[in-house]
Amino acid sequence: MDMIKTLGSAGIIPVIVIEDISKAVPLARALVKGGLPVLEVTFRTACAADAIRKIKAEVEGATLIAGTVLTIDQLKSAREAGAEACVAPGFDPMIVNAAKEIGMPFCPGVATASELSQALSLGCRMVKFFPAESAGGIKYIKDLLGAFRFTGVKFMPTGGVNLSNVADYLAVPEIICCGGTWIAPKAAVEAGDWAKIETLASEASALCRSIKG
Ligand code: 3PG
Repeated sequence: MDMIKTLGSAGIIPVIVIEDISKAVPLARALVKGGLPVLEVTFRTACAADAIRKIKAEVEGATLIAGTVLTIDQLKSAREAGAEACVAPGFDPMIVNAAKEIGMPFCPGVATASELSQALSLGCRMVKFFPAESAGGIKYIKDLLGAFRFTGVKFMPTGGVNLSNVADYLAVPEIICCGGTWIAPKAAVEAGDWAKIETLASEASALCRSIKG
């Protein structure tokens, strides 16, 4: 998978946490129907791999990314489940290298110039900027770009990004997409309010299209 192309064309990546496997397919269907087909299923719950497997098998048009991939076991489990790329909140050279060895596109998280520099040294062309708002937000990314733009690095800010600030991030060309949980809030997932989630996805995808085209 061309990770930059796929994530860039989606623009907004719902970060989803599946506690109850029975919610995985209807949640993914609502997000895809709302115009957000690339989904980050986080390895923060025991059923993450099953959720990826089930969504891949049952939801047409969904592209699965595994999120919060912190260990080699999770990396392998994500691959076996059918994830097409993996994302992490932090930068761990061991995981970046393990992903490279198995040919899994991998996007590590960075929050400093030093981490970004190390990620670039290991061949990463795209990084998650996490936790975006707490780490300095859009101003911090623009300052990083002052030094790193020439490398061609692309960013996916996540953490504190929502409908009220996502437009500022997406207006920066090097920010190819943003991730967030605001499109699949815990309460709506628990309540099975798929109509609400579809509406949140439609709003987000319309805003993204108005900026990125
Ligand atoms: C992530 O792991 O990407 C974040 O937990 C998402 O942050 P948010 O809940 O502020 O969108």
